[in-house]
Amino acid sequence: KRLAPLMALMVLVLAACGREDLSTLNPQGPVAEEQFGLMKTAIIIMGLVIVVVFAISLYVIIRFRRRPGDKTIPKQVEGSHKLEIIWTVIPIILLIILGVPTVQSVFNLAKDYRDDPEAVKVIVTSHQYWWEFEYPELGIKTAQELVIPTGKTISIEAKTADVLHSFWIPSLAGKIDTNPGGNVNFMYFSAPKEGVYLGKCAELCGPSHGLMDFKVKSVNPDAFDRWAAALQEPVALPSDPAIAAAFESKCLTCHAVGDMGGPAYPNLTGIGSRESVGGILVNVDADDKKYDHEDTVYNNLYKWIKDPESIKPGNNMVNQYDLTEEELEGIAKYLSELTLNYE
Ligand code: CUA
Repeated sequence: KRLAPLMALMVLVLAACGREDLSTLNPQGPVAEEQFGLMKTAIIIMGLVIVVVFAISLYVIIRFRRRPGDKTIPKQVEGSHKLEIIWTVIPIILLIILGVPTVQSVFNLAKDYRDDPEAVKVIVTSHQYWWEFEYPELGIKTAQELVIPTGKTISIEAKTADVLHSFWIPSLAGKIDTNPGGNVNFMYFSAPKEGVYLGKCAELCGPSHGLMDFKVKSVNPDAFDRWAAALQEPVALPSDPAIAAAFESKCLTCHAVGDMGGPAYPNLTGIGSRESVGGILVNVDADDKKYDHEDTVYNNLYKWIKDPESIKPGNNMVNQYDLTEEELEGIAKYLSELTLNYE
């Protein structure tokens, strides 16, 4: 009975592992597959250790138990060089079996990808609590949704704008820390299939750490080129002058849209086509994976702009602006229509 809460917790944890787009147990590319292989090796070795240790323990417990009426003190043993050598050498051998392929994989994967001339370079910058994706060779920036061409090498340079975060795409590529102090970390991966993969921040970074999600969207290379080109098209302000004025004075002071606005906060170009608002308010229908009709995007944007604190506590938008109901509706509508046609 005492184990019931523990069992419930394990069921919950395992249920979370069942999410196909967020599981290291469902590898979707060469990097994730290699990592999955290493995990299997580790689990087999650990399983063997558990079986052997339990078997020995059980044997000792039963074989040397105190019999009824037995009052003698067992033979006292102090130290055994033979045993100590055995239980030191066995773990060393097991660690070598684990360590050699792990180190090999780390270097082989980097080598396979590092020099790929066709690699798409992306500079990932983590912020409390969102992700910035810059494609330096294409001159574009976006946020929260990393769009990549299927089959191509993606070469990540990961850094942070504030505190320590960790960039993690469980089903594609493992994780890499983004460290303060100008440090840059590298990661490579490719996604052989089209699809949407979930990414997470994997390092405690503040009250909304658990909400710091992003998407990786793998599209065919032609669609990727169209996406990159569409992202560079100029964007018009809202047609209603009052909404345009509010958008310029209250949103564009931080955010960028097209070639307008400030570069420091999530770029909103094409936000109406993204799979989510703020990385967590989902815009797509879970069943057919198609964009839900515009209303969902609008409703999510409305909710987010109206009260960002209730959705991602402690984010930088909180208390930065005051909008009338008309301005709020107008801006949410305008942003929901900022779509990119590339699929
Ligand atoms: Cu960012 Cu946790």
